[in-house]
Amino acid sequence: MQTIRVETPSAKYDVMAGSGLLSSLAPRIERIVGKLPRRVFVLTSASIWALWGENFLASFAEAPVALFLEPGEKFKTLASVEKLARQMARAGADRGSLLIAFGGGIVGDVGGFLAAMYMRGIPYIQVPTTLLAQVDSSVGGKTGVNLPEGKNLVGSFHHPLAVFADIETLATLPERELRAGLMESVKAGIIRDRSLVRFMEAHADRVLKRDAKALERVIAASVRMKAGVVHLDERESGLRMILNFGHTVGHALEQATHYKTLLHGEAVGWGMVAALHLARQRGTISQTQFERLEGLVYLYGPLPELQLRAARVVAGTGGDKKNVNGVRRFVLPVGIGDAGVVEDVTPEELQAAVEYMLARAEEKRV
Ligand SMILES: NC(=O)c1ccc[n+]([C@@H]2O[C@H](COP(=O)([O-])OP(=O)(O)OC[C@H]3O[C@@H](n4cnc5c(N)ncnc54)[C@H](O)[C@@H]3O)[C@@H](O)[C@H]2O)c1
Ligand SMILES: [Zn+2]
Repeated sequence: MQTIRVETPSAKYDVMAGSGLLSSLAPRIERIVGKLPRRVFVLTSASIWALWGENFLASFAEAPVALFLEPGEKFKTLASVEKLARQMARAGADRGSLLIAFGGGIVGDVGGFLAAMYMRGIPYIQVPTTLLAQVDSSVGGKTGVNLPEGKNLVGSFHHPLAVFADIETLATLPERELRAGLMESVKAGIIRDRSLVRFMEAHADRVLKRDAKALERVIAASVRMKAGVVHLDERESGLRMILNFGHTVGHALEQATHYKTLLHGEAVGWGMVAALHLARQRGTISQTQFERLEGLVYLYGPLPELQLRAARVVAGTGGDKKNVNGVRRFVLPVGIGDAGVVEDVTPEELQAAVEYMLARAEEKRV
């Protein structure tokens, strides 16, 4: 098991990654909070509960009150938060109650936000069960929900007391979800951890076969990377922006496909390909580095096809306009294991990068 300390101006907590955490949850939580409070709640989804609920409950003398969120972005809403908060109130939740968010990134984001809002903030714990949630969304304190007008438009910073990422729970994760989540680890390596890049290149087989040791290595390194960045820039005023590598074009792809055909990590995978092209053109990475890093993205693919016009994708990045809030920001890798933010990407450069990506997507299809 690996323990990674997260320290920000507003919170200090541990992320634990390893096998067997789920079945020993209660004593592990008691080590942090002392005796468990009178009311403990677990927010999860019916399918995760059916798979892992028994395991979750194994170490609790008294079963936490289970709350259920229906699956999908469609239910990552204020309406769900209200419904859940009312269920908690009816079940006697007070300021001292504890909430455990047990599921993927959606459960984590809604659970964190619910905990931030309920009685102006109660403590919560993250038990992420998707690779994406284990390497990315459960760490850093961002919580929130969607509006019809856009994703994650309402939210709050609220750090958990601890994160328990049990690798065993990944055994039931669909292959596609696993690969999509791994794109965030590929991102982590490219922007800040050369040795993670090397490990993911050398051990793709083991990682994709879900070898526990290999996954633990990848998860811990990804969390360590994010913890390091969040430590230096909790509220995304500077450095934290590098976590958006691959996300400018990635978000545009998600938007253009109405969040239906691509998983987030898959969109980020293609977004990284576009950003790598841009970096190569600018010379922040060499041709050899470009080939290596693009190869790494495909190693953890396959990425779904894209049937989109370049102009549509470029427009989705805001890149067809002169400015977005004064500046158009883009994260570019600098060599392997470092990255910087540039603000002067021209519409022509962006267009070329998107065209390259779409051409690669076309080739991969045949
Ligand atoms: N807060 C942050 O910093 C942050 C960062 C990145 C992403 N996010 C958010 O995370 C969300 C995406 O998270 P996600 O990719 O985990 O998606 P998700 O929560 O929808 O989970 C994906 C699917 O896997 C299923 N699942 C979860 N665990 C499983 C398991 N162990 N076995 C079998 N099936 C399982 C879920 O029921 C779901 O159908 C998005 O809403 C995104 O905005 C937040
Ligand atoms: Zn992401």
